[in-house]
Amino acid sequence: MAVDRDEQELAEAFDATVAAEGRIEPRDWMPEGYRKTLIRQIAQHAHSEIIGMQPEGNWILRAPSLRRKAILLAKVQDEAGHGLYLYSATETLGVDRTELTEKLIDSRQKYSSIFNYPTLTFADIGVIGWLVDGAAICNQVPLCRSSYGPYARAMVRICKEESFHQRQGFELLMTLMAGTDAQREMVQDAVDRWWWPSLMMFGPADGDSPNTQQSMAWRIKRHTNDELRQRYVDMTVPQAAALGVTLPDPELRWNDERRAHDFGAIDWDEFTAVVKGAGPCNAQRLAHRRAAHEGGQWVRDAASAYAAKQQTRRQEGEVAA
Ligand SMILES: [Fe+2]
Ligand SMILES: [Fe+2]
Repeated sequence: MAVDRDEQELAEAFDATVAAEGRIEPRDWMPEGYRKTLIRQIAQHAHSEIIGMQPEGNWILRAPSLRRKAILLAKVQDEAGHGLYLYSATETLGVDRTELTEKLIDSRQKYSSIFNYPTLTFADIGVIGWLVDGAAICNQVPLCRSSYGPYARAMVRICKEESFHQRQGFELLMTLMAGTDAQREMVQDAVDRWWWPSLMMFGPADGDSPNTQQSMAWRIKRHTNDELRQRYVDMTVPQAAALGVTLPDPELRWNDERRAHDFGAIDWDEFTAVVKGAGPCNAQRLAHRRAAHEGGQWVRDAASAYAAKQQTRRQEGEVAA
């Protein structure tokens, strides 16, 4: 029985499971640091899915056709679903979703800095699908093999939907690029604004990412931030060529020796400023989320009252029987 074994043995069993590419499940013993790291990472991921609905939701009422509106609605709804799977995964680690939402709206937990940029034209919807969902896929496909079972299983489903999001973005951009000069300019302008922030989605450079080594040892993470960023650049360059857009980096070129693309320096000052709350939309995103949470209080109250009533009825039924 697990309760009779001392912590040393439990730690050894944990290490052996992780080393053998096994899965850690909610019932298993795990180091406190592992649990905390997972809660932080999965919560940040869940918050990003939910906050990420806002920049795209901005265009649902203004989508140029019924077809585009239906596609965008479905996509934004998928992101809500991703948030729900991920909040459920955090609950298996012993935290409460309400607590996480409160931490988000009090700025005690973060979400991806990419969603603090505005969506100025409908081309941004295509570019978000192509670049932002594309970067998310690079980050998330390896998480399908994460050592924590509930997270890995949630990621399998999420990744299937993210690849669909990426394709719908690309398809929208192909349509615009086959349109008028004004439409092509709109796409290029959106690419110019989103390219660098999309590179920042992979997080700080490896030398400035203190948690990476531990997360990799625990097999929560499989690759470093810079490895994933490189993979994203190499994947995206030929797609940009197929679209006929220019990625806004004069230093971007194929390096035959490295068998990879070289690219220019990322503006880490901008990244830090946006993470700390000074991005163009940080205040707006949080205010909107807070208002939605407060506005939904009556729904939560009604659901709780209904559940309590059902429980009472069940108990009364048991007594009567
Ligand atoms: Fe998502
Ligand atoms: Fe997505």
